[in-house]
Amino acid sequence: MTILSDPLARQAQAFSQGAKLGEDYLQALSDRHVNADTAQLPALDIALPQQGHSSTDVLSLIQTAGSPGTVATAAGRYFGYVIGGALPAASGARALLSAWDQCANADTGPSVMQMEQTAVRWIIDLLNLPAQTEGAFTTGATMANMTLLATARDTLLARMGHPRGKGLLGAPAMRVIASAEIHATVLKSLRLIGLGSDNIERVPTDDQGRMCADKLPKLDASCIVLTQAGNVCTGAFDPIDEIADACQAAGAWLHVDGAFGLWARAVPELTDALTGLEKADSWVVDAHKTLNAPYDSGLALCRHPEEMRASMAIGAAYLPPTDPSPADLTPEFSRAARGAETYAALLSLGREGLNDMIMGFHSKATRLAAALRHEGFTVPHEVHFNQVFVTLPDTPDLCAAITAEVQTSGEAWFGAAVWQSQSGFRLSVSSWATTDADIDRLITAIVKARDTVLISKTVA
Ligand SMILES: Cc1ncc(COP(=O)(O)O)c(C=O)c1O
Repeated sequence: MTILSDPLARQAQAFSQGAKLGEDYLQALSDRHVNADTAQLPALDIALPQQGHSSTDVLSLIQTAGSPGTVATAAGRYFGYVIGGALPAASGARALLSAWDQCANADTGPSVMQMEQTAVRWIIDLLNLPAQTEGAFTTGATMANMTLLATARDTLLARMGHPRGKGLLGAPAMRVIASAEIHATVLKSLRLIGLGSDNIERVPTDDQGRMCADKLPKLDASCIVLTQAGNVCTGAFDPIDEIADACQAAGAWLHVDGAFGLWARAVPELTDALTGLEKADSWVVDAHKTLNAPYDSGLALCRHPEEMRASMAIGAAYLPPTDPSPADLTPEFSRAARGAETYAALLSLGREGLNDMIMGFHSKATRLAAALRHEGFTVPHEVHFNQVFVTLPDTPDLCAAITAEVQTSGEAWFGAAVWQSQSGFRLSVSSWATTDADIDRLITAIVKARDTVLISKTVA
């Protein structure tokens, strides 16, 4: 390749090489072993050279040694965690945006900020949240949870007469009420904002993993109540309507972690499970999960934007006031304008495409659960959304071995899990790229792995 003297021509050349390598990677991904081949990792773990390499050589090393070491999460046979893939328009937008290299700031990136603002507005509308709701993008649901829990903490303390500027020093006691099955990242967020995770009043869950509204403790105005829209094992939604009424009567703050499940609210057939969602004070949703935007794309949404600003706003003598200013709504000061990729994802789907994609996850998950039950597995919950927890009636201890066997086969990838003391594995149907044929392959792989594990157990 010719070495160009113009710096930006060199960047354009590297950009086009990266795009071509990405294209080759994606073209080969559907047929690839889903699991990573880590044999080439030592080729990446080298001493930092004295002299730098050309960008052609750097990209070529990343391609040859790095791409086999990826798990094929971008293709359709990945069912682990709630990863999702990246929709074509969103993925293409990421490539284009990487050439722009814009920071999410109205001063330096007016067009990306416009796309972020429009995407936030679309999402508030799709989720049918109150008109006064505002929000901003974060790296993911963890950071969005932390943002909103800090806002909740400051707001309740201020309402109790404790000035925000004093932090937690000398603050009145607060109470945190949460589902027994609240996501681990919410616990981490509580630790990070100084409320700790050992002081939570845990509310028991039912046989679907939903918080039991009738077991809520007596609430008061010092309470933050943490619910989830989408249990990470069963996909079940907490009964937000009833919980919201109890919170409103007591003056408590109601937060909903809907990292992947809040998208159900955008689908008429699924929205009933989220009745009353609009009564909450704050909501978290990830674009990089169910919406299939690329990482890192979470959203913190709040019906009290003035309180969010009071907790998050930042100022310095050299900073002109800008509008919009995401740094005044979330902890990060500099960040990529990732909301523009969510804008691209939503624009490429439209309302109908979004509805079809999410309903597709639900119907594929429903078929998957039925097929596995038919094969003798137990799915101990209804299929509420896109998550399926699977166990074996008499030999749940074999589930970890079945999971490992499928991972090794390269046919699919999912992870082992324990839910309500039952060992099993968890399947998440959350990628736009998953076809019906991929689901068939997954079912065949699971049944074959179960048979292999049973035979080896018998022989042993
Ligand atoms: C219910 C729930 N909340 C929060 C998170 C954390 O999201 P993130 O990885 O985007 O920080 C997850 C991740 O799976 C989740 O399922």
